[in-house]
Amino acid sequence: MSKARLYSGMQPSADSLQIGNYIGALMQWRDLQESYDAFFSVVDLHALTQPNDPAELRAKTRRTAAQYIAAGIEPAKSTLYVQSQVPAHAELAWILSTITGFGEASRMTQFKDKSSRYGTDGTNVGLFTYPILMAADILLYQADIVPVGDDQKQHVELTRDLAERFNSRYGDTFRVPMPMIQQDTARIYDLQNPTAKMSKSAESDAGVLWLLDDPAKSAKKIMRAVTDSEGVVRYDRDAKPGVSNLLVIYAALTGRQIPSIEDEYAGRGYGDFKKGLAEVVVNEFGPVRERALALLDDPAELDRVLARNADKAASVANGTLDAVYDRMGLLRRS
Ligand code: AMP
Ligand code: TRP
Repeated sequence: MSKARLYSGMQPSADSLQIGNYIGALMQWRDLQESYDAFFSVVDLHALTQPNDPAELRAKTRRTAAQYIAAGIEPAKSTLYVQSQVPAHAELAWILSTITGFGEASRMTQFKDKSSRYGTDGTNVGLFTYPILMAADILLYQADIVPVGDDQKQHVELTRDLAERFNSRYGDTFRVPMPMIQQDTARIYDLQNPTAKMSKSAESDAGVLWLLDDPAKSAKKIMRAVTDSEGVVRYDRDAKPGVSNLLVIYAALTGRQIPSIEDEYAGRGYGDFKKGLAEVVVNEFGPVRERALALLDDPAELDRVLARNADKAASVANGTLDAVYDRMGLLRRS
């Protein structure tokens, strides 16, 4: 039996990923690629919805791809590619925009948040149609499942609605995908503000652990992470968000259960616990960082790997797009 198809992607929105991306997305992608026919994209077209310096966008795109590979996404096993290198994404997005209701798109909460923050004059139309481009990403590959964070669930639901609508109007064309929502235990919070998700766009750098940072710097940030005055290493998300977050990171990176870590540090202070975690983080990220930097040292080779995978992706995507054009009545050249 052939493997089920999986699709996911991440924006090239920073020079380095943060460990929330690593624990919440990359570690899972790495495991999932064994049992699924997986497609992972660096969604650079989506990144254009934010202001970007062209040279920086190019650099961030390579850096993001290098970190996928360094974290264990194997370009010979999974189709890891750059979204804009497969023109079918933008083409299908146009098609899908013609079957999306204006009100339907207006209800997307991520757009509502951003447009209320920046006002309609500070918001581009691309941000409004962003979820439609995301639907195109997924539907082009006939994906069965889409692993994403909670905040993207509504976009995957829109994707399902659009697939069902198209299928009922024009005949069965798209597979209707299922979201695979990240578990709570994979959610990482800011070290200085442990009730806010760790994010590439955090206001202060002190609470964010970057994958490509010097490991000594990350160790220092862990030693300074916010805790509480109880002095006991135990998990309690409400009363002890700081310590609980450190426990989640510890458990995720070692594959251990939280109670076993609590036992290990019973009767010892936060200093010891943080030192232990810093060691875990340095051991895990040191080699990932080295691999990513080595890949970035040879951009021509990295570009070749990405181009090969874009060809593989395009051969799947073009098949879907061709069927879509044909079913909708666009005249095909003979
Ligand atoms: P973003 O950097 O926000 O575009 O996130 C890309 C992916 O990384 C999302 O789909 C999430 O699954 C994951 N992610 C981002 N931040 C975190 C976090 N703080 N904790 C867990 N997962 C995260
Ligand atoms: N919008 C997603 C995010 O910000 C990124 C994304 C774009 C994506 N296209 C996708 C995720 C397709 C999964 C599938 O995280």
